[in-house]
Amino acid sequence: MSATRIDGKAFAARLRERVGEHALEFASLAGRKPGLAVVLVGEDPASQVYVGSKGKATVAANMESFEHRLPAETSEADLLALVERLNNDQAVDGILVQLPLPVHLDEQSIIASISPDKDVDGFHVINAGRLSVGQSGFVPCTPLGCMMLLTDRLGDLSGLEAVVIGRSNIVGKPMAQLLVDANATVTIAHSRTKDLPAVVKRADIVVAAVGRPEMIRKAWLKDGATVIDVGINRLPPEPGKEKGKLVGDVAFEEASEVASAITPVPGGVGPMTIAVLLRNTLVAAYRNAGFDAPEGL
Ligand code: GUN
Repeated sequence: MSATRIDGKAFAARLRERVGEHALEFASLAGRKPGLAVVLVGEDPASQVYVGSKGKATVAANMESFEHRLPAETSEADLLALVERLNNDQAVDGILVQLPLPVHLDEQSIIASISPDKDVDGFHVINAGRLSVGQSGFVPCTPLGCMMLLTDRLGDLSGLEAVVIGRSNIVGKPMAQLLVDANATVTIAHSRTKDLPAVVKRADIVVAAVGRPEMIRKAWLKDGATVIDVGINRLPPEPGKEKGKLVGDVAFEEASEVASAITPVPGGVGPMTIAVLLRNTLVAAYRNAGFDAPEGL
C-alpha cells in the first residue's frame, strides 16, 4: 500500500485565496484593509527570508503589510515601545514579532507586551489560556494548520487515538489541546517517554514535532495511520553539494508503505503556517473592527 500524500501546499493556496476574497469584503465593510505588522530584530538570514515571504503573502491576500526591521542591538525598551505603538495603531490588526530574538531580549516579556487581540501567532499566555478553557482567541498557526489538514482528510476525529510527539508551547501543547477538543484520545510523547515506538503504534493519528531527522520509522506506525510531519530538518550536504536535503521527523518513503496518508517535507505542513497567519490576521481584523468573523475559515 502506498499512502496518499497530503498536499499542504495546495490546501494552503486555497486557504490564501479564500482569505484574500474575505479581505476585500472586510475592506468594503471597514473602509480599510486588514493590516499585519511584522517585527524583525537583527539579521538572522533565515528570519529575513521568512519575514520577506510573510510580507509578500500579506500583500497578495489583499492586506496591508507593515514591516519593522530593527538592528540587532535594539534595546528591550525600544522594542517594547514599538509594540506599544502597534498595539494602539488602528491600522494594525495583527502583530508578529519574529523569533528567535537576539539573546539580550527576553522573548516572554516581549510576547506578553503584545495585545492578546492582535497576537495572531497565538503565543501570548492569554491566548494559550483561552485555548485551554475553550474560549475563542488565537491558536498558533502551525498546529491550527495541522488540524485543518487532519479534519479535511479524516472528517470527524471522535474517538481516534492521537499521539503528538513533542511538547513545545508553539506546536505540541496546542496541537494536543486541539485534538482533545475534537474528541480524539490524546497522548503527548516527548524525549523522556518510555518505549516511544510502542506508544506511536497505538496511534490512528501521529503528529511529529521533535526536530530529529527521520526519527519515526515504518515499524513504529499502525497500519493505516494518518501522519502529520511538522519537522523541517536539513541533512548534512552530500559530497559536492552546497546544501543538504530537507527531511521531516518521519522517514517518509518507508512510512508511506504503512500509513494511509502522510504530509511530505517540504510541501506539507510548512506552507500552512503562513496561510493560517493570514487567516488569523483576517479574523483579528473582523473582531477588532467589531464584526463577526466569517464562518468556515
Ligand atoms: N519563527 C519561526 N516561525 C515563527 C512563527 O510562526 N512566529 C514567530 N513569531 N516567529 C517564528
